[in-house]
Amino acid sequence: MKHFETSVLFAGAVLTMLGAISVSHPISAAERPATKATASATPAASDGALFVEFVSVLRHPRCMNCHSRGDFPRQGDDGHPHTMNVRRGPEGHGVTAEKCSTCHQDQNLAGAHMPPGTPNWGLPPPTTPMIWEGLSDAQICRSIKEPKQNKNRNLDQLVEHLTEDKLVAWGWNPGEGRDPIPMSREEFGAKVKRWQAAGAPCPADTAKKAAATTLLAKLCSMASGNRERN
Ligand code: HEC
Ligand code: HEC
Repeated sequence: MKHFETSVLFAGAVLTMLGAISVSHPISAAERPATKATASATPAASDGALFVEFVSVLRHPRCMNCHSRGDFPRQGDDGHPHTMNVRRGPEGHGVTAEKCSTCHQDQNLAGAHMPPGTPNWGLPPPTTPMIWEGLSDAQICRSIKEPKQNKNRNLDQLVEHLTEDKLVAWGWNPGEGRDPIPMSREEFGAKVKRWQAAGAPCPADTAKKAAATTLLAKLCSMASGNRERN
């Protein structure tokens, strides 16, 4: 009798545990397809997909040559360091002996390998170098929205910069021998404005997302492992 009671108690405990596992397991399993669905669905306002739609423009060499690492501009589609040891300088406009404006005028100069130009040609200043090279989409998104990094621009001013600024516009009219940005300027502008209208959401950090998914998978396999043993 005593033995029987103990077994019943034990079975009860096991059942309770199993119940807990089978309740928690389907919930977490149900979350997985949901995550997958958002990733492949058309841009959802909340997940930063609207930003990813136009980030290729920011990553294009026409932009990256002024927004990459190092205290110097870069050239060409391969982003090689600017020739003649051109440096950023204290304000981004070069050093005294080699100001950007010595060679870069207010417009592109005609001819292959002649300096391109537009008013205010220069790099961002060293205090806010606006470097995107090596950043994830999420990090670029946060960086251009961060007032400490972007000259205290609010979202409207940032969007205005992306759609109206002359240095940005130059990317579509880069002068002889340079490829313009492939996405049309109109399409880029429309995508930026859709992102703005959705509240300018940034993508989740993929590294964090991946870690969370791995953890979830681990918990699930632990749970099913337990169930098999019982
Ligand atoms: C000749 C160099 C040069 C090129 C080419 C250039 N930029 Fe910039 N960019 C700058 C400078 C300088 C600033 C800082 C001036 C300012 O903030 O007004 C800046 C600032 C910005 C900012 C402000 C916010 C931030 O934190 O970065 C954005 C956004 C931006 N550029 C986007 C672009 C895009 C997109 C392209 C290509 C279509 C591009 N830039 C091409 C020099 C350049
Ligand atoms: C001594 C002249 C000279 C000075 C000074 C100079 N540049 Fe240039 N730069 C050129 C020439 C010439 C080219 C074109 C090279 C080519 O097309 O092969 C060029 C190309 C570039 C490009 C490449 C554009 C692209 O996408 O390929 C960038 C960016 C650039 N310069 C930025 C700057 C910045 C910023 C400064 C100042 C900090 C500066 N340059 C100073 C002569 C100069």
